[in-house]
Amino acid sequence: MKNKIISEIEIIASLTASSPNEIEEIRIKYLGKKGMLNELFSEFKKVGKEDKKEIGILLNNFKKSIEDRLEQLKESMDDSGSSQVAKDDLSKPANTVELGSRHPLSVVRNEIIEIFSRIGYTVEEGPEIEDDWHVFSALNFAEEHPARDMQDTFFIEEREDGNHSLLRTHTSSVQVRIMEHNQPPIRIIAPGRVFRNEAISARAHCIFHQVEGLYIDKDVSFADLKQSLLYFAKEMFGESSKIRLRPSYFPFTEPSAEVDVSCNLCDSKGCNVCKGTGWLEIMGCGMIDPNVLELSNIDPNTYSGFAFGMGIERITMLKYNINDLRLYFENDIRFLKQFSSLI
Ligand code: PHE
Repeated sequence: MKNKIISEIEIIASLTASSPNEIEEIRIKYLGKKGMLNELFSEFKKVGKEDKKEIGILLNNFKKSIEDRLEQLKESMDDSGSSQVAKDDLSKPANTVELGSRHPLSVVRNEIIEIFSRIGYTVEEGPEIEDDWHVFSALNFAEEHPARDMQDTFFIEEREDGNHSLLRTHTSSVQVRIMEHNQPPIRIIAPGRVFRNEAISARAHCIFHQVEGLYIDKDVSFADLKQSLLYFAKEMFGESSKIRLRPSYFPFTEPSAEVDVSCNLCDSKGCNVCKGTGWLEIMGCGMIDPNVLELSNIDPNTYSGFAFGMGIERITMLKYNINDLRLYFENDIRFLKQFSSLI
């Protein structure tokens, strides 16, 4: 019996398993009701007095070694249930690597850029930390215009020349920078991050993204503006989309308009997204005020142009029926994964 226990202890030390099931089989074989340990204990009853002590110690060693070995085998098993032995098998296919995906705002920004680049617009960028001139004064904002108010604008510091540095509240500042350094024809879009001092809610955020467009040439008319925006709406929201323009006011455009697109969620019948109207507001636009052209040294007697500006968050909300702006910035993987099939 002594030799039998010693050789079993040796065998136990080299036991292997490649799955939780195999570990369980080993446990039953050794520690189960009809397992080897119980069998040896029954045999032990017949052992003579003189050998009892020695074989008793061996039996305890046997029990301990099988328990230890089972523990080791369990530890070598990773979460997916494959053992170290199986992991070392280099012929196995590699673990799949989870791919990331683009943020929905990037997907929609890229789509907007693509739609406008098909009709000749190029992309321009400018600084996020701007000055009063490029964000307001050059765009015909009167000195006391409420948009300059501390409530809307994050002012950073007042410079020695009296000009404030501030976080841009719209990307129209990029248009000013382009007009300052180029003569028409100019046809650009300016995508980028903008900042406004607003309380964060489902419908507003202090950081958001815009794409603004600018087209200046000889004989650019309001009809050109309407047709370009109709083209955009059809490309973005579907061929059957319609647009309507409502009179509005912006300091840098005259006339100015707010653009609505027909609600594609309810086929313009009226739903809770379009609040029963069948229309969704998507952007502001207008003919560039001659004052603005003049301030950037473009001759308003020779040239005319239009501008438009939209919020990427809003376009994305309408396109994918998202009801809370905050979702874009929380980076909850369950939200982001819903867009992983988009490029
Ligand atoms: N800059 C405006 C805004 O941020 C949008 C706009 C751009 C309106 C161009 C008209 C023309 O609200």
